[in-house]
Amino acid sequence: MTGAGELLLLLLRLLLVAVVSVAIFVYLRRIRWARSPRKFSNLPPGRRGCPFIGESLGYLKPHPAISMGEFMEDHISRFGKIYRSNLFGEPTIVSADAGLNRFILQNEGRLFECSYPRSIGEILGKWSMLVLVGDMHKNMRAISLNFMCSARLQTQLLREVEHHAVFILRSWREGSTFMAQDEAKKFTFNLMAKHIMSMEPGEPETESLKREYITFMKGVVSAPLNFPGTAYWKAKKSRSTILKVIERKIEERLRRKADGRDGSEEDDLLSSVLKQANLSKEQILDLILSLLFAGHETSSVSIALAIYFLEACPEAVEELKAEHGRIVQNKARRGDDSLLNWEDYKQMHFTQCVINETLRLGNVVRFVHRKALHDVQYNGYDIPAGWKVLPVFAAVHLDPSLYGDPQQFNPWRWQRRNCGGASVATAAAGANFMPFGGGPRLCAGSELAKMEMAPDQPLVFPFVDFPKGLPIRVHRTT
Ligand code: HEM
Ligand SMILES: *[C@@H]1O[C@H](CO)[C@@H](O)[C@H](O)[C@H]1NC(C)=O
Ligand SMILES: *[C@@H]1O[C@H](CO)[C@@H](O)[C@H](O)[C@H]1NC(C)=O
Repeated sequence: MTGAGELLLLLLRLLLVAVVSVAIFVYLRRIRWARSPRKFSNLPPGRRGCPFIGESLGYLKPHPAISMGEFMEDHISRFGKIYRSNLFGEPTIVSADAGLNRFILQNEGRLFECSYPRSIGEILGKWSMLVLVGDMHKNMRAISLNFMCSARLQTQLLREVEHHAVFILRSWREGSTFMAQDEAKKFTFNLMAKHIMSMEPGEPETESLKREYITFMKGVVSAPLNFPGTAYWKAKKSRSTILKVIERKIEERLRRKADGRDGSEEDDLLSSVLKQANLSKEQILDLILSLLFAGHETSSVSIALAIYFLEACPEAVEELKAEHGRIVQNKARRGDDSLLNWEDYKQMHFTQCVINETLRLGNVVRFVHRKALHDVQYNGYDIPAGWKVLPVFAAVHLDPSLYGDPQQFNPWRWQRRNCGGASVATAAAGANFMPFGGGPRLCAGSELAKMEMAPDQPLVFPFVDFPKGLPIRVHRTT
């Protein structure tokens, strides 16, 4: 087996742990029954499933990441793309319909609202952006977006992405094997820790924070059983350890400011948040903790998936190599020995296709949690106020009527063909492709995430030329 095989096993194991934990959680949770649907004459078709657990086990049954799963397939063929069910103890509308998904996301705060399970709020914090709604959400979101604005992306962030990618690559020895997933995690964690709190990779403080985050992460996807020994309990302890580290950083800065040593101020998220004088310390702590979380888990899994897909698709690897090679050569011809810059990045057309295809097929975030604020009608269907609503992006991304041969990794499908042939990029993409969600809660880090995936892809090659001109040789062993 190659690294990719191991990676897949690891991913499957993680998935299994998550699923088993959620199943236990669902068993133990108090069940809320569906409000009598009598008032609604046109609920989407579907069924309630077993008492207590509804259809949760079927919904969460493990399945290959590149499929939408048996449950989804069965229900869609029986009931259509919009159906009702009973999931996680609540009456739920499940949507595999691109139009309804878009409608839900775009009507955030008006007809629908973000509604994650309570355990998520308890672990990420009540000021985390994933659980906040209304003005407070807008406020926190503005702070995060401001920090990932395009000016920053084009200069600092691009440079840091390259710097941290090179840092990881340098740590590889000729002939060594590595776990792509772990390396990807290191890369995205280092990048976020630096960007958010100016923590340097390799330093003891950074390394111990990284270890805490691993424990923390396991708890986020586990059953919220709060007694000694459980993953959830450990994660809650990690949460307070992590908060202490962040708090120490804050105090350090405040002390320095009081000493009048303001000149050496770091240009990171923490500094800019501290200037927002009206945020409480508790709010700042939750914001930083959850940005570190949002910014490193999803993108590291995406990088690992890209490596996994590319391993099985040598033609795409060749094309990527050629594209990156051209950029290096053009730079050399111009006598430009600078680091990778925004113009270089914008020339990575095929790379962007690979990124989109990885996100489409990999579906790192398969669905999001919403609830209906009012009784809503959509295409003749009733969606009662208070019901859970789950827009399932994965089902849209793997819909054969939108993407031909949907389980095939085919980055070329994103190319704008100049000779006729319809490309998914033009017609369908804008409307059907939503790996980062949409509407007022569109992922704040989507551009950064794509950038993180771009220079990382050459990592799988046995012999790599980096746009910077840094030759890296990693001998792949099996
Ligand atoms: C490939 C990687 C990523 C994927 C697939 C992804 C996906 C998503 C999705 C689907 C949402 C919407 C959640 C919802 O509507 O309930 C979201 C929200 C968010 N993401 Fe990402 N994300 C990625 C990387 C990142 C990165 C690198 C950051 C950087 C800090 C980030 C920060 C955020 C934040 C702050 C939110 C909350 C936005 C809000 O509520 O207004 N994400 N992400
Ligand atoms: C902070 O100030 C902004 C505008 O200055 C306001 O919109 C926001 O609600 C305030 N936040 C808190 C937590 O008071
Ligand atoms: C990738 O998807 C985005 C939508 O998220 C789209 O705007 C972009 O054009 C796509 N890129 C390519 C190369 O098709």
